[in-house]
Amino acid sequence: MSNACTLVLDRGRAREADRLGAGLNALVDVDLLLMRILTDARALTKCEAGSIYLTRGDKLILASSQNDYLERIVGGSSLLPFLNFQMPLDRSSIAGYVAVEQKPLVINNTLAIDPDAPFEHCTVIDNKNDYLCQAMMTVPIRCRDGHKFGVIQVINPLGERGQVTPFDDDDESVLCYYIEWAAMALERAMELRSMTLRSAEVVSVHDPRETPAHVQRVACLSLELYEYWAEKRRIPYMERLRVTNILPLAAMLHDIGKMSVPEYILTKPGRLDLKERLVMEEHVLIGARLFRKHRTDLDLLTYQVILDHHERWDGQGYPGWVDLDTREPIEGHTDANGKALGKRAEEISIYGRILAVADVYDALVSRKSYKDPFDESLSLQIMEQESGHHFDPDVVEALIARRPILKKILERFPDTPAAYDLATDLPLAKAPVAYPVHF
Ligand SMILES: [Fe+2]
Repeated sequence: MSNACTLVLDRGRAREADRLGAGLNALVDVDLLLMRILTDARALTKCEAGSIYLTRGDKLILASSQNDYLERIVGGSSLLPFLNFQMPLDRSSIAGYVAVEQKPLVINNTLAIDPDAPFEHCTVIDNKNDYLCQAMMTVPIRCRDGHKFGVIQVINPLGERGQVTPFDDDDESVLCYYIEWAAMALERAMELRSMTLRSAEVVSVHDPRETPAHVQRVACLSLELYEYWAEKRRIPYMERLRVTNILPLAAMLHDIGKMSVPEYILTKPGRLDLKERLVMEEHVLIGARLFRKHRTDLDLLTYQVILDHHERWDGQGYPGWVDLDTREPIEGHTDANGKALGKRAEEISIYGRILAVADVYDALVSRKSYKDPFDESLSLQIMEQESGHHFDPDVVEALIARRPILKKILERFPDTPAAYDLATDLPLAKAPVAYPVHF
């Protein structure tokens, strides 16, 4: 990459930044990308901790955070309460100051900040965890067209004996240089998420239940459930990485086929009659057809998510073993009357089993035109009752195990239209939700 920073950069460090920056191209998920950017930035500057704040309207929202010390001493959940932490986008904080000024800022001793400085060191998270962000470098993240994503902070560079040391002269250049790579990758991933959410927005025109907020919550929940399930199954790291990179996008598209279902059916308050139900069920086949020519991993996973998300563990779901075009039963998968059987248990892809849990749980805890939201306990009770019937018991177990984070997901993606202005607020990350180990 060309950048003025290269003029003052040590060649070896520039090469390392290039290597890490080029590696970002493999990632399409915004949240995974944010995590990787933070990990890389900390590696390049040998920092113990770091955070990324993204701009959202007039606020900065903590989108990703890592702290090796807290993870080692306190445990990964120590930062969980700060999942949705936000601060004003103004000069009153260090992160806000850098976001407004759009210039890097290096502070080697936060205890000795000039009292006349316009900003203060925000110690809310430090105080809660009995941790001191002593040395801090903050760099704006912006893409070439000038769009400001937010800021990255790397905290407490460590010397050879593990002691906190000041940043060296080259650190600022190397981080700025690397962040150019990061901003390009982020822009690409955010565009992809943005396009995906716009598809959900189109569905919501016909079906008020399918809001962008709902699909983002379902994506988040799905990732949580997959992480737990994959860890328990000891799925190899590279496979987990492959799936976590694409599952959120696939999950957001699970009901894309509803675009073709008439609005009067989608919004009918009472029970659907048989004919209407068949039309409604078509949304699975129509959506799956869009992705059946699998050119990429994302195509294939999206296809599986769409096709299987209304199957049930006990075989009573739909569409079952039918031809995608004709809806005729597939040979070898019929009952005594020649009717297509439903897929059951592990005949259903794990992604479909996960989506079923995430989708229904979110419907239970959300406000709908026909019901008030159920509280978390009642919703989990209902999900548990359906374990082994509607849902895969292992996935329900994952939902229960992830209970501490469920409310955070709801808070992060509320059903308020103003929070989802696609033009301004779309690139809202959920990295801490998906990866609580770093929180
Ligand atoms: Fe659906």
